[in-house]
Amino acid sequence: MKEHYHPRREYNAKELNFNELLPYPMEQFAKWFKIATEIETHEPNAMALATTSNGEVSVRYVLLKAHDSDGLIFFSNYESRKSAQIRANPKGAAVFYWPILQQQVRVEGDIIILNQEESDEYFNIRPQGSKIGTWASPQSKPIPSREYLENLRKEYEKKYSNFRVPRPEFWGGYKLIPSLIEFWQGRPDRLHDRFEYRLKDGLWKKERLAP
Ligand SMILES: Cc1cc2nc3c(=O)[nH]c(=O)nc-3n(C[C@H](O)[C@H](O)[C@H](O)COP(=O)(O)O)c2cc1C
Repeated sequence: MKEHYHPRREYNAKELNFNELLPYPMEQFAKWFKIATEIETHEPNAMALATTSNGEVSVRYVLLKAHDSDGLIFFSNYESRKSAQIRANPKGAAVFYWPILQQQVRVEGDIIILNQEESDEYFNIRPQGSKIGTWASPQSKPIPSREYLENLRKEYEKKYSNFRVPRPEFWGGYKLIPSLIEFWQGRPDRLHDRFEYRLKDGLWKKERLAP
């Protein structure tokens, strides 16, 4: 049986005009993201990250942990499925949706591996439990049971009970460096505001897109 679900949400929180766009898209991102972290109640730094290789495409959420003028930084296991895809095709697309603000941001670009110092720096400020969890999880690999995972956790807790937990070599950061960013602001009657920044010959070109 087909189940329908179509509540009608009116988007009328704000508008976005060409004149207010900052010259560089990561500046515009920083402006929107700061407000999102103040207003949104549920993980505004969660971004769906799509990667692809050999004609297969996958998407999953990761958490944005830092951003600068070049791009978006997230962390993961370098032996995970996403990492295999990134190695095969170092490109990705990410999307944020901030429902209270009625805003979407889409990013597309190259993905590079963060340098070791930056990965260490972030790993070292993680809580002890997360550090142990990183060692204990062969991310994306099939495992026989929950118990298997708990046993690995115990093993690493014991191993590092008297030592600082080092960052595993199989875990660290990535940076998604945009060549395209789109800012979407919901507007009434599905006539939303959309602006795309696209990198062309070293320059950012801004354009309004039809919703
Ligand atoms: C809200 C949320 C945040 C997540 N953040 C991360 C993250 O920062 N890094 C990560 O490796 N996985 C994160 N995950 C788990 C991933 O979605 C995914 O399950 C995992 O990375 C394995 O993906 P893969 O098999 O495609 O490599 C998060 C999941 C959710 C729901």
